[in-house]
Amino acid sequence: MQALPPSKNGRSRLYNNRLRTLNKNRLCLLLLASSAILITVSCHPDTPPAKPKTLSATEEHGERIYKSSCAMCHRSDSTAPMNGPGLKEVFKKPYLPSGAPANDERVHAVIVQGRRTMPPFGQIYDDVQIHDLIAYMRTL
Ligand code: HEC
Repeated sequence: MQALPPSKNGRSRLYNNRLRTLNKNRLCLLLLASSAILITVSCHPDTPPAKPKTLSATEEHGERIYKSSCAMCHRSDSTAPMNGPGLKEVFKKPYLPSGAPANDERVHAVIVQGRRTMPPFGQIYDDVQIHDLIAYMRTL
């Protein structure tokens, strides 16, 4: 086999070719590593795209109560009425739909005592459960 003539930089072509392959391999590795990082970041199970809010354990507990006892009458994603008024952003406004102030005490009382056709929940939930429920309602 004929020896390769030296290239301009004095190194043999074979050596230069090897260098190029090495660089290519390094580039591939780099690409692989960065896409692995991207996939890990974008597919993290705690951040599903449909629900960007992350709830604390307290709020999540409240959400479970809301879903089992309130969601059949109150929408959580709008203020449109169902059996009762929609409760989206209920704590972001100064007043509740009835005109009473939108604060923890008032909402606690409504949950415990009920209101007109809304049933009371005082016999069903204790203070801690109602506290967690209100914490969740504050995230709406
Ligand atoms: C059977 C249907 C029903 C269920 C279940 C229900 N509600 Fe209601 N809720 C209503 C109705 C109807 C009203 C409006 C009462 C009125 O006429 O002012 C209301 C009103 C409210 C209000 C507004 C009170 C005000 O002063 O304007 C809040 C807050 C509320 N409900 C929270 C809850 C929570 C929290 C739960 C779950 C523990 C719940 N409701 C379960 C029917 C329901």
